[in-house]
Amino acid sequence: MSEQKSTNIKWHHGKITKEDRTKLMKQKGVTIWLTGLSGSGKSTIAVELEHALLENKHQAYILDGDNIRFGLNKNLGFSPEDRSENIRRIGEVAKLFTDANIITITAFISPYRQDRDNARKLLKEGEFIEVYIKCPLEVCEERDTKGLYKKARKGEVKEFTGISAPYEEPLSPEITIDTSKMSIEESTRAIIKHLEEKGYVKFS
Ligand code: ADX
Repeated sequence: MSEQKSTNIKWHHGKITKEDRTKLMKQKGVTIWLTGLSGSGKSTIAVELEHALLENKHQAYILDGDNIRFGLNKNLGFSPEDRSENIRRIGEVAKLFTDANIITITAFISPYRQDRDNARKLLKEGEFIEVYIKCPLEVCEERDTKGLYKKARKGEVKEFTGISAPYEEPLSPEITIDTSKMSIEESTRAIIKHLEEKGYVKFS
């Protein structure tokens, strides 16, 4: 689905450089890629992180798996091919947001290593921060915030990640957060600390 079909097209450059944007916006664009099982806490952490960043006058925006599937990716389901296309599109959207100097937070299961690595390759060195939201399947299933694990066990939801579809753990994520041990506040702080250390944000 990702082959180049259009021909006779040409890339147009703007007048504003990345440095101009960085100066004007007092921040550098970056993608914070949250990956993990359904119910691991990706969306919750994304919301807290976005709030903390905005409170400190940083421009941040969340791209959330469930939400994006209402619009841009409404024509995609949960087969391996559709999930790959889901992540390919989001990788491209995250690239655009990052180019616009926004702190972009993505919250998708993104179960395939290859797809996450492809998204990483779209961005420049250091601009892609993979955050593994680690949480044992038993804990996610116990939480079952959306009631989907129960349905998946009964076979009412097919190809459900962790039950009847795979999740490939990141091999070398920049950050790992175990939400069965850390609170939402601690998890958010850990990501902010990393962003500060890498010079992406300054917190007062
Ligand atoms: S991904 O695998 O393609 O990255 P994505 O993050 O967009 O998934 O969407 C996951 C969300 O869709 C889950 O949090 C859950 O609410 C919902 N969902 C519905 N069906 C499934 C399924 N079969 N597997 C996983 N999540 C599902």
